[in-house]
Amino acid sequence: MGHILVTGGAGYIGSHTCLELLEQGYEITVVDNLSNAKRESLRRVERLTGRHLKLVVHDVRDRQALDAVFARASTPIEAVIHFAGLKAVGESVEKPLLYYHTNIVSTLVLVEVMLDHGVNRLIFSSSCTVYGDPASVPVTEDFPCSCTNPYGCTKLTIEQILKDVNRARPDFNVALLRYFNPVGAHPSGDIGEDPNGIPNNLAPYITQVLIGKLAELQVHGNDYPTPDGTGVRDYIHVVDLARGHVKAVEKLKENPGIVIYNLGTGRGYSVLEMIRSFERASGKPVPFAIGPRRSGDVAANFADPAKAGLELGWQAEFDLDQMCRDSWNWQLKNPDGY
Ligand code: NAD
Ligand code: UD1
Repeated sequence: MGHILVTGGAGYIGSHTCLELLEQGYEITVVDNLSNAKRESLRRVERLTGRHLKLVVHDVRDRQALDAVFARASTPIEAVIHFAGLKAVGESVEKPLLYYHTNIVSTLVLVEVMLDHGVNRLIFSSSCTVYGDPASVPVTEDFPCSCTNPYGCTKLTIEQILKDVNRARPDFNVALLRYFNPVGAHPSGDIGEDPNGIPNNLAPYITQVLIGKLAELQVHGNDYPTPDGTGVRDYIHVVDLARGHVKAVEKLKENPGIVIYNLGTGRGYSVLEMIRSFERASGKPVPFAIGPRRSGDVAANFADPAKAGLELGWQAEFDLDQMCRDSWNWQLKNPDGY
């Protein structure tokens, strides 16, 4: 099937994607510095698939080490999926240089080393954050882009860098995948999201309230121009998202140049709908209080995923209840994460 290098493959989306790729028969090498992940995630991926993958622990910015990964690969690496990076919006405001350095330099080094080794297919983890506060929803890939925090600006800058590389080298194929809000976990409950400290994102916050680690959820505002006043997002099951990457790997085999896809379900759900769905999944009430809006939040953002449907033959299969059941199952089986 081919050999794929997955940077950041030990993390939340990366581990689920490695699992799907191994199940499709791909050979995998992961480069991860384990700054936000544990080896255990990939051990469990190996156990679940009955297949072996190679984990090399180093920073993607370490050019010599990365060069050695390509040079010493048992079979030639044919494509790279680049998940590695930092992703906490609030932290990026506090530590902008850390975010620009980690996210941008890692991409520059990666692309330079890929070009040195004649590897010309790259899938990059972008985000719906590049749409800023969209003028309308659903958003299509040709909506104007902007950024409002250093994390989002790294994504937008990297998209621009990769477009420029493709312009200079049209044989360098790039898929920019703009993820909406990944939630859920593998249905086994053996791999899932394992945030450090108090989660910023809604789903892991709710599961930690349900398991008793946090007292109650603060709903960040109920005065948005949305049906129930709370923020609306396009939550997407991480397994669907992972399968989108397998489709993107296949797409890049056609040498399409640069392609951009929204990976979302096309449906928006409010914070209150999310709470109800977790209550159904767990059979327990979610204690919550309505608080003020969180700065930087938008009222509603959801995808038009039609382009990915048409060109990748991909669409999300799992609904919100399935996402919440799988998140809860993971949290119950692993109350302290990995
Ligand atoms: P994650 O933190 O679980 O995974 C990122 C992985 O990269 C971790 O395993 C971490 O140890 C590793 N890493 C970080 N910096 C590294 C470096 N310099 N060298 C090597 N490894 C490094 O995050 P995730 O949720 O799996 O996100 C994966 C990618 O998707 C990120 O680029 C993120 O910005 C993007 N994304 C995530 C979301 C989301 O909500 N989770 C939404 C949109 C986009
Ligand atoms: C956040 C990031 C975004 C990133 C995305 C990844 C911010 C401002 N944006 O988006 O850049 O791409 O994660 O998934 O951090 N909510 C609560 N209470 C909470 C947590 C969240 O009410 O404790 C609400 C939020 O106001 C929002 C919704 O839940 O309406 C989803 O929030 P979250 O999971 O943080 O995702 P985003 O804000 O969409």
